[in-house]
Amino acid sequence: EKGGYDHFMLKEIHEQPKAINDTYRGRLLRQEAIIKMAGVEDNMKKFLNANRIIIVACGTSWHAGLVAEYIFEDLARIPVEVEYASEFRYRNPIITEKDIVIAISQSGETADTLAAIKLAKSKGTFVFGVCNVVGSSIARETHAGAYTHAGPEIGVASTKAFTTQITVLTLIALRLSRAKGTISSSEFRQHLLELEMIPDKIISALKSDTHIKEISDLYKDSRNCLYLGRGYNFPVALEGALKLKEISYIHAEGYPAAEMKHGPIALIDENMPIVVIATKKGHYEKVVSNIQEIKSRKGKIIAIVTEGDTQVRALADHVIEVPETLESLSPLITTIPLQLLSYHIAVLLGKNVDQPRNLAKSVTVE
Ligand code: M6R
Repeated sequence: EKGGYDHFMLKEIHEQPKAINDTYRGRLLRQEAIIKMAGVEDNMKKFLNANRIIIVACGTSWHAGLVAEYIFEDLARIPVEVEYASEFRYRNPIITEKDIVIAISQSGETADTLAAIKLAKSKGTFVFGVCNVVGSSIARETHAGAYTHAGPEIGVASTKAFTTQITVLTLIALRLSRAKGTISSSEFRQHLLELEMIPDKIISALKSDTHIKEISDLYKDSRNCLYLGRGYNFPVALEGALKLKEISYIHAEGYPAAEMKHGPIALIDENMPIVVIATKKGHYEKVVSNIQEIKSRKGKIIAIVTEGDTQVRALADHVIEVPETLESLSPLITTIPLQLLSYHIAVLLGKNVDQPRNLAKSVTVE
């Protein structure tokens, strides 16, 4: 059942090219230059008239929501707020029928997310679901939705659910951008083209596996680890840190790179590994100067860079190359090495990768 892989997590990491393809199949029609999504089409008026979109989710799905915030605001120019479902449900939130709620959940059974949906519905708000499990409670409880079609995710650490959630949310943002006219038709076409190239680019990112395993061996005994990224890749830093925490039990934190000097920089010494997402587009020069600041404090730098990069390579202790893509699609690629890094560290430490201690695949109690 693990298809020749040692763990479900590794199998699911490798399934991502196919899973993403399954997510956009029948929806992304590049020749015709259209995106077809029944759940969005049927509710287009609501989406176009919405004052703002509130995304509710937990854990990794919340990170996918944060990536979506960048995409929706950047491309579709719709204000977005991303909320932990557990906080949203208990803080008497201000929501009306002028808002739209998007609930994201792999399992479709997360108790806090389900409760947040019920609360939003009680205020007359339209709720759209992004779920993986067909027929799940959240899929049934929402007014409309789009499935991720990632196939079953068995490993407790979410991998392919995350990248397919981002894919669905990107498709929705692009569809709305066209309807609103906030991106040009050539930009739209370019996004479709680049989105179709993502599965192959993930295949090439996966080729760093052996190199990542070597790096993992050097840092597996670390007590702490920092993950830094900016813009679209800030949520990827959070996700990388969560992956490491949950399966290897190493304390890790994700930060927007520029926040480092507001506190976490005090932690940096020669024993601190720092994973920095430093791909070419998206504040590259700023990230380079953040890397210089780390280096002068002797932190160990593991950088995720664009193929052919020389500037970061000259500064970092290790570089992991990924193929170039549009900045807005980069999380789909930069996430891959971080998944592999956490996987290898956990395996090298002899941890139970697929079923980490204290964690359940779906959290059906609050
Ligand atoms: O099934 P859901 O997407 O609603 O689950 C939300 C979180 O419990 C989940 O993403 C959790 O954080 C994962 N174990 C992360 O890998």
